Amino acid sequence: MHEETCTMSTVIKWNKKWLFFVGIALGFVLFNCVYHTRIGKFSVITPEKSKYSVWPQFESKSPINNIFFRSECVKAANYSLTGLSDIKTQWARAQHPLCQKYYNKFTSIFTLKTRKATLSIPEGFRSKVRGWLANNEDLYQEIFVQDIIHIISEFTREHTVFNPLRDKRPIQPPDQSQSEYFDELLKATAKTCDFCNFTHFTAEHTFGRVQSKHAFTASNIFKIDTLHAVVAMKQHDPLHWSLEEFVDLFRLTETWIKKANSHYPQARYPALIWDILPKCGASQVHPHLQLVLDFERYHGEIEAWRRGAQEYYSLHNSNYFTDLVAVYSALNLTVTYGSAVAFASLVPKRDHEMVIMAREPSTDFYTLLFAVLRAFIDDFHKMCYSMGMAYPAVDTPEGKLPIYARVITRGFVTDIRSDISSFEMFLATNVNIDPYKTIDVVRSSVNQRLKNMNL
Ligand SMILES: *[C@@H]1O[C@H](CO)[C@@H](O)[C@H](O)[C@H]1NC(C)=O
Ligand SMILES: *[C@@H]1O[C@H](CO)[C@@H](O)[C@H](O)[C@H]1NC(C)=O
Ligand SMILES: *[C@@H]1O[C@H](CO)[C@@H](O)[C@H](O)[C@H]1NC(C)=O
Ligand SMILES: [Zn+2]
Repeated sequence: MHEETCTMSTVIKWNKKWLFFVGIALGFVLFNCVYHTRIGKFSVITPEKSKYSVWPQFESKSPINNIFFRSECVKAANYSLTGLSDIKTQWARAQHPLCQKYYNKFTSIFTLKTRKATLSIPEGFRSKVRGWLANNEDLYQEIFVQDIIHIISEFTREHTVFNPLRDKRPIQPPDQSQSEYFDELLKATAKTCDFCNFTHFTAEHTFGRVQSKHAFTASNIFKIDTLHAVVAMKQHDPLHWSLEEFVDLFRLTETWIKKANSHYPQARYPALIWDILPKCGASQVHPHLQLVLDFERYHGEIEAWRRGAQEYYSLHNSNYFTDLVAVYSALNLTVTYGSAVAFASLVPKRDHEMVIMAREPSTDFYTLLFAVLRAFIDDFHKMCYSMGMAYPAVDTPEGKLPIYARVITRGFVTDIRSDISSFEMFLATNVNIDPYKTIDVVRSSVNQRLKNMNL
């Protein structure tokens, strides 16, 4: 009996020991599993540079132009936002190999959804709604079945919703005329402007500032990055500048990038923003750009385009921007000047978005940008605009962006209501202006201007 108990207790003891070791081993395995999964997840995040391939060079000249497109791909169509879905249907059926090749690129880059929206209006409300439409009976009838167009840029994840009817609503002119507002603002700010006396009233980087005939750089006082400069014109007026002053300003941005990079050789990703007047977010009336040079990647939106272009390259083995420009060219949404090209975006962030692009910073690029901005100011009579721009990264052949600028207009300068809401911050962007209308005006304005400048 005793012996038996003894044996039993030995067995139990042995079992306890065994259980203890199994427990330790199991714990160890579990710990390793969790630990390694974590590590596994982290290891997906590789250094920025190795995420990118060397793409084929950007070509601004499209192998398919709109004349060919009209004669071979889509013969009769309404070239407008509302006509796009019909253009797409016809394009899908076109037999010419070049048509098919670019149809596939178009549908890979853009998704197009056309939707109808219907409603009914209670009797007592109808006269009020008619009033909003200046009693235009045709417009009033359009209310009941509205065309809504969604365009999605699949690689950059931009999504713009157009309702052309919204653009047809009669515009109420602002209470104060825009030019009156502007003249007063200019006068009121000139006397106390710090930028007008920049040697005394602007900061500089520890490596000093650079200057040119018409422009200077300064350091932003409240920085958003290690290398964050202000590049400003020497004159105070934000709307009236010549091509010479304009090109000089942008050449100085390149000088600053070179200087900053020589002091910080690891800083390679230059980007620039420019807002005009308070309505568009400018803190000073004096014309000034903000320039950043980042160390690992571009800031936000620009890096998103670069990522998109890398995904596109991985899928199609082709330069995203070259193909993008070719698709815009086929659709007759481009205007070119020398080695630079501009197109009216199908996924605009705000009204009239134009994108200006070239392989490298060049006089052609700046001249075309100048002409587009003059079209905004002088022909659309938009007194404020916002711009974002990327330069090719310094000494970085991987994921090399072309130089590009995106410019938009933002409504009456006197309108205190913000044109940005939760819609564009958290959902898609709502723009109602047809890119075909934008390119029509911009193209004739740009061509006229460039011809007159006799370049
Ligand atoms: C492209 O659009 C313009 C208007 O902006 C028009 O005059 C021209 O005829 C169009 N091109 C073709 C090939 O249809
Ligand atoms: C273009 O639009 C007009 C009016 O909206 C229409 O009458 C015409 O049939 C359209 N043309 C084509 C080729 O779709
Ligand atoms: C710039 O500011 C300094 C210091 O206040 C002043 O002496 C100088 O006259 C100013 N220059 C101009 C052009 O206003
Ligand atoms: Zn000033």
